[in-house]
Formats: sequence, C-alpha cells, structure tokens
Amino acid sequence: MSTDSELPGIFYPGLEGVISNETAITNLEGRKGDGDLEYRGYRIEDLADHVSYEEAAYLLLHGELPNVSQLSDFDSRLRTQRAVPVELIELLRKIPKSAHGMDVLRTSLSVISHYDSEVNASPTDHAANVRKAERIVAKTATAVAARERLLAGLEPVAPDATLDHAANFLYMYNGTKPSESMAKAFDLSLVLYAEHELNASTFAARVTVSTLSDIYSGIVAAVGTLKGSLHGGANEEAWKVLVEVGSPDQAEDWIQDALVKKKRIMGFGHRVYKTGDPRARILKDWCQKLAKEIGDDRWEKIAEPIEREVTIQKKLPPNVDWPTARLYHYMGLKTEVYTPIFALARVAGWAAHIIEQLDSNRLMRPRARYTGPANRPIKPIDQRG
Ligand code: ACO
Repeated sequence: MSTDSELPGIFYPGLEGVISNETAITNLEGRKGDGDLEYRGYRIEDLADHVSYEEAAYLLLHGELPNVSQLSDFDSRLRTQRAVPVELIELLRKIPKSAHGMDVLRTSLSVISHYDSEVNASPTDHAANVRKAERIVAKTATAVAARERLLAGLEPVAPDATLDHAANFLYMYNGTKPSESMAKAFDLSLVLYAEHELNASTFAARVTVSTLSDIYSGIVAAVGTLKGSLHGGANEEAWKVLVEVGSPDQAEDWIQDALVKKKRIMGFGHRVYKTGDPRARILKDWCQKLAKEIGDDRWEKIAEPIEREVTIQKKLPPNVDWPTARLYHYMGLKTEVYTPIFALARVAGWAAHIIEQLDSNRLMRPRARYTGPANRPIKPIDQRG
C-alpha cells in the first residue's frame, strides 16, 4: 500500500484489503474470524451437512433457505430448463477439440444468451434477473457435459428430469447414473464451490454489470476470469502436481525441491484465508472416503506429505482446489472438466452478486497511478525512430 498525494485515493496492489462494495450474500469474517465462511448467515459446515446444491442456489438467488414447496417449485423450474439450444450443440461439434474447456464454456453461455428472450430486458428488473439466473444455473451444467461428451467422441446425453442437479450432471457426463456416494460427494463440492464473496471472477461480474450490462455478459466475464490458474484453474493444476509427484515415496523429495526452487504450488494459499480454507477441511474427509470406496489410496498418500510440508514450511494451508482435484479424479472426471465444474457451481454465486449489484448499482470505475512519461512533444512521422 502507498499513498499518492496527486490521486484521490490509496494504491493497494491487487486491491488487497480494499472494500469495494457491501454485500448481504457471503461473510468471510463470520464468528471465528479468519477461516470462516457463511452464505447469507449460514455456516458452510452446516450447509455442507444439511443442504443440497439446489437449496444452496435458492438461498443465494432468493435470499432465504427454501421451504418444502419453494424448493419443489425451484427444483422443477431447474429441471424443466436444463435443455440447451440445439444450435449450441451443433456449434460445439465444430469447435476444435484443442480448445480449452473454459473458453468453450464462455462461448456456450454467450450462445445460450442469444436464445433467452429476456436477455436484454431492463438490467435492473430484479424478477427478470432472477428468472435468467435460474435458467443459467440449469443450462450451464448441460453445456459443460455436452462439450465433454463430444470431446470424447460420444453423443451428448439429454438431461434426466428424475435426477437432481448433481446426479444429473454425472449422468449427462458418463451416460450412466452415479452411485449414491459419488452423487452426494459431487453435490457437496457444488455447494462448497457455489459462492465465495468478492473473489476475482465475482468482482469481474460485478464490474461488468455495473455499466448496466446484462447478466449473461457478467457471467461470461466471470467465466473468463475463473479460468486463470491463480483462481479456478488451480484445481486442474493441483491434479498435475499429484501426477508429477507420481508416488508416495517421491513426495518428500518433490516438496523439498519445490520449496528450494520457490515454486508456486497450486492448491495452496489464499488471498483471504491465511490459517486455512474451511472448504478444504470439509472435502478432505470426503477424499479419504471416496479413495477407500474405489480401493485406491495412492493419491491420498501422495497428497498428505505435500499438504503437511507446505503448511508447516510455507505457512500455506490448502485451499478448496487441493482436495477437489482428488475428489473429481475418484469420480472418474477428466482433468480438463475440473474448472468448468467449478464454474457450473459458481454460476449461482455470480448471479446472486450480479443481481445484488444491479439492485443497488453504482458504476465501478477506480483510478490508476500513471507511471509513464509526460509532456512529450509529437514529432512528425518521418522523424520518429
Ligand atoms: N506456493 C508457493 N508460494 C506461494 C503460494 C503457493 N501456492 N501462494 C503464495 N505464495 C507465496 C508467493 O510466492 C509470495 O512469496 P514472496 O513474497 O516470497 O514472493 C507470497 O507467498 C505472497 O504471494 P501472493 O501471490 O502475493 O499472495 P496472495 O495473497 O495474492 O496469494 C494466491 C493468493 C494467488 C491464491 C496464491 O496463494 C497462489 O498463487 N496460490 C496457488 C494458486 C491457487 O491455488 N489458487 C486458488 C485460490 S482459491 C480459489 O480461487 C478458489
């Protein structure tokens, strides 16, 4: 942080510590301070134990946990809006297989927006924004699964209206219904990924709609922002760490080498949580449970010493992306779909923030400190070097 007398503000690199707006959606201070997380006043540990992704998404979008009939109506709205435009499927067939999954998701959401008759309704129409948000939550999972099927040389699987959001995604991805424990673990990961205050992608979404742009534009900006390896892309990178280490007996050497070379170890550290990410603590138990279920604890044995040494030696505890990399591997999900899965969960949080921003909007327009040259005379073009 430094002050600059000529600018009406203070320079905080990376905006660290800057409060840019108020929110009633997520609290990272909570009751215990650092390491806490609440969605609309409910502790993440309680949400993890008691609510489905649908309930969490309803809470984020509508402000309260649903009662039985509210959940039933919401759930049925999601189930009936899961189909994506056939034009999107046709386009997905033509997109190069080499394209990154997050780039394809960005395109997919743009295409879906063209078929939403309310896309350019008044950006401050709260009810229309909630309707669009529900459609986005319902369709994003279908778009991600369809792309993955086509990438694998298979036909997309139509959504199954008898399955809940998590189980339906795994069904559309694999073509077979998941086991109860796989569906439960996946649902839990979606609950934990659904929202996280003013992270980079949510901030990008809020900045975008603060110009009175539309909800889809905000979501597309957020998808592009989540892709980076310092943010959502870290779950794919965390898996690559485990693969690079390769076996439990290589873990100690790998970590010492990484520490000496000051490598950035993906899945560790967090801008806000300095003593631990509660989502990582919750998912660690589930990783161990699923590893036992599939009868392969190799990745747990590799992960454990890395986690211990990075936490002790670098004072960097794991973040949510460290356990999800293993969790999704145990579910048979390919690495390239890890970050798109993060996105299909986070659309609920992004949409909630977009709606909150538009309900009480002020254009976001910070200042920059100029560091370039000044007062330069313009030379005629034939005299420029
Ligand atoms: N591995 C090694 N060193 C690290 C790590 C890491 N994962 N994270 C931070 N550091 C070190 C930096 O090298 C730097 O050291 P230095 O001062 O000696 O140069 C110091 O800690 C501060 O690093 P910053 O990047 O400035 O800290 P910031 O608070 O911005 O870090 C971040 C947050 C970007 C998440 C960082 O911890 C990181 O890069 N982690 C790995 C990527 C990752 O897992 N991202 C997912 C975050 S959670 C999410 O988005 C869902």
